[in-house]
Amino acid sequence: MPSSRAKAETLAANMRVPSSNPSAAPDPLTLLYGATEPPPFKEGNIFPLEWRCETPKLQQIYDSARDPGWAPNRLPWNTLDPKAFTPDQRYALAYWWSLLSVFDSSGPAVFARAMIHTYETHEEDPVRKCFFSVTRDEVNHEEICQRAIQSLTPGGPLDYEPETPLGKLARNNVLWYYHNGGRYWEGFKKGVGKYPLAILFTSFLMGEVASATLFHSMYLRTTIPVFKEAFKCVGRDEARHMGICLAILERLLPQLTDAMREQITRQIRAGYVFLSGILYEPPEQFWQLPETWRPAHWMLEDVARGAGLGILTREERRENWRGSLLKMKGLLEPHGVEFPGIPEIGIDGRTIAFDPDDIVPVF
Ligand SMILES: [Fe+2]
Ligand SMILES: [Fe+2]
Repeated sequence: MPSSRAKAETLAANMRVPSSNPSAAPDPLTLLYGATEPPPFKEGNIFPLEWRCETPKLQQIYDSARDPGWAPNRLPWNTLDPKAFTPDQRYALAYWWSLLSVFDSSGPAVFARAMIHTYETHEEDPVRKCFFSVTRDEVNHEEICQRAIQSLTPGGPLDYEPETPLGKLARNNVLWYYHNGGRYWEGFKKGVGKYPLAILFTSFLMGEVASATLFHSMYLRTTIPVFKEAFKCVGRDEARHMGICLAILERLLPQLTDAMREQITRQIRAGYVFLSGILYEPPEQFWQLPETWRPAHWMLEDVARGAGLGILTREERRENWRGSLLKMKGLLEPHGVEFPGIPEIGIDGRTIAFDPDDIVPVF
């Protein structure tokens, strides 16, 4: 069978008639005769664009996310009166939002980078679109941190002068967290291009399960109205992100190779180490913190809790984190993924050496 191009070329050759007028436009068949194709597209090129849909459920989730139903500027910020708190309470409240911002404010750049990756690797259309919606949501979550911090400590998280010793400790602790956040970003940039989608999504799922649990519990506990509303809205977004990860993993987990299973085991351990920085207590691995950090952190958490933020006790957080990870375990083990040991919160499994390059998860 001659190809359609060969047929067109034959046709063009048979029909070529010399033009009597050299300035007349050439006819399409004449042009087609001389047409050539460009060199093959390079790997990682975002073109040619196409719009495949292999997971209709993802398209439905994306459709439901087009309008998140809330916006940071529409929350009742006017009900947050900084004068209703003591200076230490203000510092402590802003402190917690600053720690959160190390996670949630990396979201916009992290997911934007991941979204570009989905174009480069020619993922199906709804995967790319879902990453877009998660990026948009994360910009909103960052704005919540921004508004909370700026209302309580204008110029914060760093560009303000605290007037009490506890306030100065808060600022110092936050500096150290940003230092570690910068190290996370360096690792993430290397990891995102290196890992296949199944591995990235397992890591992302970990962050989403953890954050959905965190915000839901704080929504129930806080006594500060605008924070209650914020926790509700952000928690709903995080639950949707969790649904996106699950829909993708349903398709990808049955196709894992042994090498991928091995990488996932390592990443779960790395994810625990990183995310514990907000969900529980920052472990020694990865986190570079001075000796003053932990005692200052416990004092600040107590003051923020007393001011009504809704921070759970360490024991409650340990139980929440454990519950989230056991859910992950239940999802992964049927696909032959061995779970790492997380003795800090009472989960048995294989002992895994920590490698900072394995850190990929985010809120
Ligand atoms: Fe999220
Ligand atoms: Fe988020």
